[in-house]
Amino acid sequence: MSGLRVAVVGAGSWGRNHVRAIAALREADLVAVCDLDPARRDAVARQYPGTLVTASLDDALARAEAVVVASAAATHVEITEAAIERGLPVLVEKPFALSLEAATRVAMKADASGVPLLVGHLLLFHPAVERLRAMIAADELGTVYYLYSQRVNLGQVRPDENALWSFGPHDISVALFLLGEAPISVAAHGRSYLQPGIEDVVFLIMQFASGVMAHVQMSWLDPHKERRLTVVGAKRMVVFDDMQPREKLKVFDKGVDRPPEYRSYGESLAVREGDIYLPRVPNVEPLSQELAHFVMVARGTEPPRADAWSGVEVVAILEAASRSLREEGRVVEIAPRARTQHSEKA
Ligand SMILES: NC(=O)c1ccc[n+]([C@@H]2O[C@H](COP(=O)([O-])OP(=O)(O)OC[C@H]3O[C@@H](n4cnc5c(N)ncnc54)[C@H](O)[C@@H]3O)[C@@H](O)[C@H]2O)c1
Repeated sequence: MSGLRVAVVGAGSWGRNHVRAIAALREADLVAVCDLDPARRDAVARQYPGTLVTASLDDALARAEAVVVASAAATHVEITEAAIERGLPVLVEKPFALSLEAATRVAMKADASGVPLLVGHLLLFHPAVERLRAMIAADELGTVYYLYSQRVNLGQVRPDENALWSFGPHDISVALFLLGEAPISVAAHGRSYLQPGIEDVVFLIMQFASGVMAHVQMSWLDPHKERRLTVVGAKRMVVFDDMQPREKLKVFDKGVDRPPEYRSYGESLAVREGDIYLPRVPNVEPLSQELAHFVMVARGTEPPRADAWSGVEVVAILEAASRSLREEGRVVEIAPRARTQHSEKA
């Protein structure tokens, strides 16, 4: 079988990784790259002489069997809709859309036309996240009590989306993927220090019906570069540290147990300090995994791991969190409709 003919729209600092990874993928051919910026086009054209490099979306889509949308967030909906109208399967980068209304419209359009759509929730393709999910599903952690993640660094300061919309899709999609449920409410605090109205620092808390609580710290104004998730379960605790070159998952066989028999209340809770171990996680690039999956999705041989409705679910959470941000951390409930659609599809 010849490679799937893929066009990439948007070859900026992230899109060029898609360009590189698609060019390297055996199952795909990079047939076109579309970008409005002549300097970006020049850089791509020099590296990939056999690829059409153009400012015209129409010309790029005309050559393709499938499309990767990695342009600026504000353009995702319009370009995704154009691809769907041509019947082209789409991988759209996060954030899927900038409003729940637009995300829902795109998802309905994809459903109505039967066009496969994958949302670029990259971390769902991270082997450490896949392993962590398998551990939770196999009850190796026991009941999950709570989780928290830190996604902080210095820059890239974005002019059109805040730290919540830029970083949040990663941690929110991972939380939903690990827990298999969507939050019932969110609350967020944040501040804009560098640009008026664009929060550089956001603290988000999500509450789930099961009792799980998840906290996400997001910032591009921080001296540390952290990409860390901690999951605390009744039996074990796990840290996923994506800044570690190799030992990305660390399992702590630690907890606080309640022995079956005890004499006084003080003895009823016993701290257990067990082993710490490092599960072996394959060293594969999540982006290549995501794109290989996209080829299968486009060919109709695999269902999308993050379909349009899971994109809607994440946008619903982002939108509710934005409302909470504007209202100084008020608890905002998530509309059950968005939740139901997600769990029905799961
Ligand atoms: N999945 C991930 O891990 C990840 C990481 C970084 C960024 N992203 C997402 O990828 C997207 C792009 O981010 P970036 O960092 O590359 O931004 P960027 O600003 O560096 O690049 C955006 C590119 O899109 C081009 N563009 C804008 N409008 C266009 C249009 N209508 N048609 C064609 N090209 C257009 C711009 O010229 C620019 O080259 C954002 O949505 C971002 O959130 C995802």
